[in-house]
Amino acid sequence: MRVLIVGSGGREHALGWKLAQSPLVSDILSAPGNPGLAALGRTFPIKADQTAELCALAAREQVDLVVIGPEGPLALGLADRLAQIGAPVFGPSAAAAELEASKAFMKDFCARHAIPTADFKVFDDAVRAKAYLGTREPPFVVKADGLAGGKGVIIAQTRGEADRAVDEILFLRKFGTAGQRIVIEDFLPGEEASFFALCDGETALPLAAAQDHKRAFDGDKGPNTGGMGAYSPAPIFTDAVRDATMERIILPTVRGMAAEGRPFKGVLFAGLMVTPEGPKLIEYNVRFGDPECQTLMPRLESDLAPLLMAAAQGDLARATAPAWRAESAATIVLAAHGYPDEPLLGSIIRGANAADGMDGVTVFQAGTRRDEDGQLRAAGGRVLNVTALGASLKEAVDLAYEAAARIDWPGGFYRRDIGWRALNS
Ligand code: AMP
Ligand code: GLY
Repeated sequence: MRVLIVGSGGREHALGWKLAQSPLVSDILSAPGNPGLAALGRTFPIKADQTAELCALAAREQVDLVVIGPEGPLALGLADRLAQIGAPVFGPSAAAAELEASKAFMKDFCARHAIPTADFKVFDDAVRAKAYLGTREPPFVVKADGLAGGKGVIIAQTRGEADRAVDEILFLRKFGTAGQRIVIEDFLPGEEASFFALCDGETALPLAAAQDHKRAFDGDKGPNTGGMGAYSPAPIFTDAVRDATMERIILPTVRGMAAEGRPFKGVLFAGLMVTPEGPKLIEYNVRFGDPECQTLMPRLESDLAPLLMAAAQGDLARATAPAWRAESAATIVLAAHGYPDEPLLGSIIRGANAADGMDGVTVFQAGTRRDEDGQLRAAGGRVLNVTALGASLKEAVDLAYEAAARIDWPGGFYRRDIGWRALNS
């Protein structure tokens, strides 16, 4: 089987790394890929938003499965275009990707299908939005409707801050066109977890849960990022919570999307708040999490290729539930200084291979490139993802930090407290 992976991050490297272990997979192609993916197969300098070029590549290379990593191309309809040319694709249509691309769509969908989520209202008018804030209790949650790279959410402790958030998003367009509409919702107390389920348009198969760290600095301080580290499994995500999530959230979503003529194929990433009344949905993403995926792939014992193929082809009902290793996994994200605002690019990275060679450790490449001399350099904000397996979460975290310490990269930084919540509880 020839697989084409679309994307260039640590998530895509982790998917390629796992697929490369499958006896069913003969070739891993990627576009645009990164140095990690380049070690697994050919890469093509086509960006994830170059839909026509990617379709031409899939046809020319006669790929048997296209795996789309990031949300951008999904929202642009890459899966639809690939389906039109008959290429099996793992990833939802643009209509189904609305679950991530529009928070207003997602919240209204939840209301239509009685899926537990925070109470909310959608506005495009600041006066009405502020009047609604007057009827709610702090903290207030104000969100831009569209895709904002995980940054379009403001949690306001006071009414003044919430009013300002409304103005910043609707008038000042802090998040660009993503902020043409806003969602105001009630604050959900509890602990967060990310849960992943494969979907084939009709049914869903649970994968596993992870927890990530969105803030840039230790102690959950600093600006929000795409994610600075993750671990799996998530101790708060017990089997009972998983079953409740499948029954009340994931399966009603898959059935509801099918009933509304937007069958969802691919992976549903549910951002959940685990509350005393059970799991509630904070948001949906329509792809694997980055860096959550980097913790899931090393834990997955089963072959990934037939699972992705079954999701792509509507065959999940006949697939066997995936098996997981007993070990925990932890991922530490090494980011370039200045990330997330203005990462400094170009610095030299040494020692990634030495870390990758350690027993139980895998270094996934994200924003890296090789220069003319073959030297690894920073080429993005999140640069390397050091992942380790351990008998316990503590062992996994300790090993990941030991490996990270072998990487000689003065141009980067990482959090020193990945896993703190689970390790302290
Ligand atoms: P989102 O992009 O919707 O996942 O929101 C980003 C982050 O904001 C989430 O990971 C939560 O930490 C927080 N958040 C979003 N919505 C809520 C909510 N209703 N209650 C509490 N925290 C929230
Ligand atoms: N780590 C969060 C995300 O991928 O959206």
